[in-house]
Amino acid sequence: MKISVIGCGYLGAVHAAAMASLGHEVVGVDVDADKVAALTSGRPPFFEPGLSELLVKGQELGSLEFTTDVSRVADSQIHFVCVGTPQKPGEFAADVTYVDAAVDSLVPHLTSTSVVVGKSTVPVGTAERLAVALVPTGAALMWNPEFLREGHAVEDTLHPNRLVYGVADGEAGEQATAGLDEVYATMLDEQTPRMVTDFATAELVKTAANSFLATKISFINAMAELCEASGADVTQLADAIGIDDRIGRKFLNAGLGFGGGCLPKDIRAFMARAGELGADQAVAFLKEIDSINMRRRVRMVDIARDTLDGSFIGKKITVLGAAFKPNSDDVRDSPALAVARLIATQGGVVTVTDPQAIDNAAMTFPELNYVADTSQALADADAVLLLTEWQEYRDLDPVATASLVAGKVLIDGRNVLTPEVWRSAGWTYRALGRP
Ligand code: UGA
Repeated sequence: MKISVIGCGYLGAVHAAAMASLGHEVVGVDVDADKVAALTSGRPPFFEPGLSELLVKGQELGSLEFTTDVSRVADSQIHFVCVGTPQKPGEFAADVTYVDAAVDSLVPHLTSTSVVVGKSTVPVGTAERLAVALVPTGAALMWNPEFLREGHAVEDTLHPNRLVYGVADGEAGEQATAGLDEVYATMLDEQTPRMVTDFATAELVKTAANSFLATKISFINAMAELCEASGADVTQLADAIGIDDRIGRKFLNAGLGFGGGCLPKDIRAFMARAGELGADQAVAFLKEIDSINMRRRVRMVDIARDTLDGSFIGKKITVLGAAFKPNSDDVRDSPALAVARLIATQGGVVTVTDPQAIDNAAMTFPELNYVADTSQALADADAVLLLTEWQEYRDLDPVATASLVAGKVLIDGRNVLTPEVWRSAGWTYRALGRP
């Protein structure tokens, strides 16, 4: 099928490349000429395993094009809206102006056989509003939320664990469903569960899923606070409760908490939207989820200061990890960088290292010191903080690492190292939620 993808960020670039690899003819549109040039030459403007290969494959097949010229979408039957919905500055609400602008830019190119498919995460009610704007074109609208995780985006896009189609009643909904079934034929052949809902339910599925994930993480981090107060071990607690498959072990990793461009802003946007709908009490608990998450960052700084006899002044601190999670170069609301900055403001001499995210981190917080090489970053450190659990840091050898640093102090912000191994090599090992 002929497809357009409006917005070529983490979501859109992966979606465009993945759809081309399935045999569709895809044109990706973005306002950023540099991003378009990079994608055209097969270089993803961000780190995402497997994406480069898909981009190159799409170019070789001649089925993938990137452009800043929105009129190139004129031949497409299906138009995916994949632009961002960031948190509004100074507010909890999501900024949907990019979604509105994307739909406006499509309008002159739509016909009565076109289908516009929203994938962006939007406040409930957005699709209903946009459907009204599309009425004069005769095009059908669908909301098809995306559940991909950064770092696994290619796999999640090609083999999603479910498909949700939010559609209007009647013929428009049938037209949209038939169109998207054709696009996703290979996934449907793989028996991927597909649910057809109304617009509001589809929009809420996405927000509810991310809110649940955030709640699960903050729940275990609240237990970590209790473990710290009582001398218990949160990793054992998580293993033990996670065996119950009604609870499940996934997303029960206690530590520095969640960050990134999705979970934090989505729970806040949900609270704002619920307030507008007069249902604020229903999600008031998300405020506590947010607070628990933010407290972990402060607690991390407190533990680090404590291990350094109560002061960071003049101490050299090495922070392992800048990305909000491993296998990503995304530093949006990165817990690791938040901790690094807090320590720097308290007089610590902070060096940050990361396998992929240093350039993005340096653009966001130029005041910190960045070193790409892990050994160089560790040199002469008074304390080492593991804040993003890249495999490289999980694999660090306590004996070899000890020969690099000035002080054998390690604080494991992600609970991924084995305390006994580090302690027996002479390290002071501290972690969140563990004795
Ligand atoms: C999240 C959702 O997992 C995706 O399903 C969703 O599509 C996406 O948001 C989105 O809305 O676009 P993502 O932001 O890529 O995906 O990251 P996650 O893997 O969910 O991790 C979020 C944060 O939680 C990270 O900072 C991670 O370190 C933290 N986390 C995760 C924990 O602290 N503990 C855990 O047990 C799991």
